[in-house]
Amino acid sequence: MNDHLAVLIPGDGIGPEVTAAVCRILEAAKAPVAWIERQAGLAALHAGSRDVLPEETLDAITRYGVALKGPCTTPVGEGFTSVNVQLRKRLDLYAAVRPVRNLDGVSTRFQDVDTIIIRENTEGLYSGIENQITKDAVMSMKVATETACRRIAHWSFRFATRRGRRKITVFHKANIMKMTDGLFLRCARHVHQQEYPNIEYQEMIIDAGCMKMVQDPTQFDILLLENLYGDVVSDLCAGLVGGLGVVPGANFGDEQAVFEAVHGSAPDIAGQGLANPLALLMSAVMMLNHLADTRHDEACRKAAERIKTGYNQALKDDQKTRDLGGQLGTEAFADAVIGRMA
Ligand code: NAI
Repeated sequence: MNDHLAVLIPGDGIGPEVTAAVCRILEAAKAPVAWIERQAGLAALHAGSRDVLPEETLDAITRYGVALKGPCTTPVGEGFTSVNVQLRKRLDLYAAVRPVRNLDGVSTRFQDVDTIIIRENTEGLYSGIENQITKDAVMSMKVATETACRRIAHWSFRFATRRGRRKITVFHKANIMKMTDGLFLRCARHVHQQEYPNIEYQEMIIDAGCMKMVQDPTQFDILLLENLYGDVVSDLCAGLVGGLGVVPGANFGDEQAVFEAVHGSAPDIAGQGLANPLALLMSAVMMLNHLADTRHDEACRKAAERIKTGYNQALKDDQKTRDLGGQLGTEAFADAVIGRMA
């Protein structure tokens, strides 16, 4: 089988450093992937584009179906709309999946955390639809549609069934946002009752849910959340298993999938060779498994397994970047992984 063509978006801040390290590891693992590099974010502007999300980047993802993406910086309180929000909306990548698991060799307060966060990726307050109402007042609009709420509920229960997971918990605030979160809940409930009664279903008001999460995260199997809650709870959960350096992610639509870590462009450490490439590496492993599933190519699965063996062994041997209490830089950690691949 020929190499699979996949789009590579290095992104901003630590993005180019971690993507370079990850590409090197994939090559060493003989992953059958050839990269089509495209730009997004501030990097696109620096490369001469007038747009932070150039059409040629969107066209490439549409054409090749999969992308590995580094983080893109979004200015705070001013400036352009988030590239990430635009990308997810333009390609209708409606389901974000973030597996949060303990790793051997990374000691944290909890053991046996194994939760998968599923975040609705296209609606809610996170859409960033805002208006100036009067000179004194501004407004953000939270939008929920029955179509998107049902779609993510279906996707989540299908995913749970295929993966053999036992329970879905929805975090919500439908006691206050009765219409929007109410609709999200009704759709999830309906899909559960009508089509997936064998999967356990639970609803929790998000504030109490967060308290329970930090007391005992092992009680949660799959978490289903609307967009903003999914954003916040993803970072909270990352903190339970070692931080943003170890939580991967994927954004799925019906036609395309974009794989990216949960973390951002980390401007505080960018350009210093200190960033942990593991979260993006684990996202690349998700990409390889996705290619193995959808294109029936076992060479992708084998490469994914080699890489997992490499990073698990590196962590057990205490080969870690600084965010995990180690001493290694980005490239040295990549070397440690490569040296331990089966
Ligand atoms: P951040 O995730 O970039 O950083 C938060 C903290 O975690 C920082 O102390 C950083 O050094 C650390 N960190 C993050 N990733 C790390 C890694 N791989 N290795 C070691 N340490 C790591 O979040 P922040 O600072 O809130 O956002 C920075 C920028 O990133 C913003 O412009 C934001 O909009 C953007 N962002 C982009 C995302 C994306 O492209 N998907 C996701 C989240 C934020």
